[in-house]
Amino acid sequence: MWNRVIRGLTRGKRPPIYNERQRAQLREAGEFNARLIDYLRPYVQPGVATRELDRLAEEFTRDHGHRPACLGYKGYPKHICTSVNQVVCHGIPGDYVLRDGDIVNVDATTIVNGWYGDSSETFLIGDVSSDVRRLVQATFDAMWRGIRVIKPMSSVIEIGYAISRLAHDRGLSVVEEYQGHGLGRRFHQPPGVPHYPLPQASRDVLVPGVCFTIEPMLNLGAKQTSPPALDGWTVTTADGSFSAQFEHTILMTEHGPEVLTLTQHGPQEGHQF
Ligand code: MF3
Ligand code: CO
Ligand code: CO
Repeated sequence: MWNRVIRGLTRGKRPPIYNERQRAQLREAGEFNARLIDYLRPYVQPGVATRELDRLAEEFTRDHGHRPACLGYKGYPKHICTSVNQVVCHGIPGDYVLRDGDIVNVDATTIVNGWYGDSSETFLIGDVSSDVRRLVQATFDAMWRGIRVIKPMSSVIEIGYAISRLAHDRGLSVVEEYQGHGLGRRFHQPPGVPHYPLPQASRDVLVPGVCFTIEPMLNLGAKQTSPPALDGWTVTTADGSFSAQFEHTILMTEHGPEVLTLTQHGPQEGHQF
């Protein structure tokens, strides 16, 4: 989500600390969101239009009595985001038909009994180039590195250090204009979670009971993005290079980070693409 927006939402504000009852609600929301990603998984194939993925996501969510969080959020027109190739984030599902060699990030957020779950995966469509595969692998590894580096009372800046070090070691860049965020009974709340070492993130401490996302976007080329397209949403890399993203919702507990949006059928920690 936008740095600008997150900063506005989070400046000088403390994140909510959730108790056991509230954590149970967060777990339910995260689990449902992961089930939605697993439900979409077999449809993410060459020949499918991104609007079909959106339709399936809405149907699955409503059939289970839940709500797609994106629809109407600051005027967003669809239920999920589908970001293809050089699209960094917030791609709007539409007529585009996925084809061999593409990558697509499917980002879903749902509201379950008033609580939010938010996660995304980048899918390889057919055979992708070795550079693009390397990009997707590094982005997945970077997300997990960001998760594994934190413990109770860690500073949020540790996430940015870990992710940007991995990206730079592999010759890739990290998008700075969009970041992870706290969530719970709202879509976006403190803390902001930059994926690079933004100095002010050193002030935010991950106390047990804080819930947030880690959602790095890595680019094959330069880190800069172009402002949203004419549709008001679609963000692309400034140089047209491919971009990948993964996202999980994380609850910091007394025992360490708990990943609330683990899928049954998707790539698990350590996966090789
Ligand atoms: N799911 C995105 C995130 O990870 C936010 C999408 S906002 C929308 O923060 F309005 F585009 F849906
Ligand atoms: Co998010
Ligand atoms: Co998301």
